[in-house]
Amino acid sequence: MSDKYQILIVEDSEITLYKLKAILLRLGYEVSAHDRPQNALDWLTSSQKTPDLIISDVMMPGMDGYTFIKMIRANSQTAKVPVIMLTSQTDLKDKVAGLEAGADDFISKTVSPDELELRVKALLSRNKEKSSISQSSSKVFSVFSLRGGVGTTSIAVNLAVAIARLLEIKTCLWDMALSGGQCALMLNLKPKNTLASLADWPEGSIEEGLLSSMVLDHASGISLLPSPQFFEEGDLVNRATIDLVWAPLQMLAPFIVVDGGNHFTDPIISVLERSDAIIVPLAPDLASVNATYQALRLFEEMGIDRRKVLPVVNETFQKSSLNPAKIAEGLKKDIFAEIPYDNVNMVRAINQGTPYMELAPRTSTSQAFTKMAQRLTAVRKE
Ligand SMILES: Nc1ncnc2c1ncn2[C@@H]1O[C@H](COP(=O)(O)OP(=O)(O)OP(=O)(O)O)[C@@H](O)[C@H]1O
Ligand SMILES: [Mg+2]
Repeated sequence: MSDKYQILIVEDSEITLYKLKAILLRLGYEVSAHDRPQNALDWLTSSQKTPDLIISDVMMPGMDGYTFIKMIRANSQTAKVPVIMLTSQTDLKDKVAGLEAGADDFISKTVSPDELELRVKALLSRNKEKSSISQSSSKVFSVFSLRGGVGTTSIAVNLAVAIARLLEIKTCLWDMALSGGQCALMLNLKPKNTLASLADWPEGSIEEGLLSSMVLDHASGISLLPSPQFFEEGDLVNRATIDLVWAPLQMLAPFIVVDGGNHFTDPIISVLERSDAIIVPLAPDLASVNATYQALRLFEEMGIDRRKVLPVVNETFQKSSLNPAKIAEGLKKDIFAEIPYDNVNMVRAINQGTPYMELAPRTSTSQAFTKMAQRLTAVRKE
């Protein structure tokens, strides 16, 4: 039996479902998400699982939340499972109806991640047998290529923006292209303090506040932990720096996207080893495919789970004889995503210091970033 708490969510609004699921997954829970009460009931019957907590909307097609809770209470398998109702209005009448049906608590659909965490933990603490959730840790997605100019920075910046938008959640962009990182430039932000100031840090830990003082907030909803400003400062960030900042970094945001640059150095290896996914961008040309092949080989030698490594074809030029299917064949690995060519807006975005996703939100290229964000944060409906 899994020692993780399992939470069942029923919510017909796709975006609310995405958001709740992402927050709960990040907190270390197992989540079973459904957009219709009937689907949730079917899942309970077929899986024979008893969730530790149920979160249900009120107004849903087919069956309302009150009826759903009554059915949960009437079933011996789920009769004692705590239920939280999602409300859009704080109408007393609705709460009374919810209580009568058997709800234990109410939260607003616009609940903050922190409040959701508190409410969920409070209800789950009634179930003492299971181990308490280990400290929350962020999901870290690193973008890394052995070849320069293939769009590593563009993908990292826009993936972070896409996650922040999709989940309406703070997302941290960490510029680990240590010698000459371009993220601050692409976001028109001016770093004050960087990780280079932690060189030869005398103690084994740092205050979270020190890291926060380096982070720059951007209007798109992302916050940037910038790379050292000067080329020669790159060497000041080493494996010890990564060990120092890793834990406090997890407090900054539930999702962290890393621009890993294109140098296979000790500190970036340390980040890649700990990442939840490694996105490897490549242009549709042979040199790029070869560099990606080498990267996959290195990751394998490092013992990194092959499933975590995700090649992404970035169409940095208009026409290529190498299509993604051929590239996948050459790499012996599926292509995780394809980013369509849009030179005009990409260059304009960089020159203006505005993320591409903000400058051209409706293009197929922006859609590709959003789709990557959806797949990486696993916010799909079951
Ligand atoms: N999908 C795309 N369509 C067209 N041009 C693109 C696309 N993605 C990136 N580019 C262009 O490719 C160039 C390199 O992009 P970027 O700086 O993101 O790559 P990089 O791999 O981080 O480069 P570096 O090695 O300099 O760090 C930029 O001029 C950018 O406009
Ligand atoms: Mg770059």
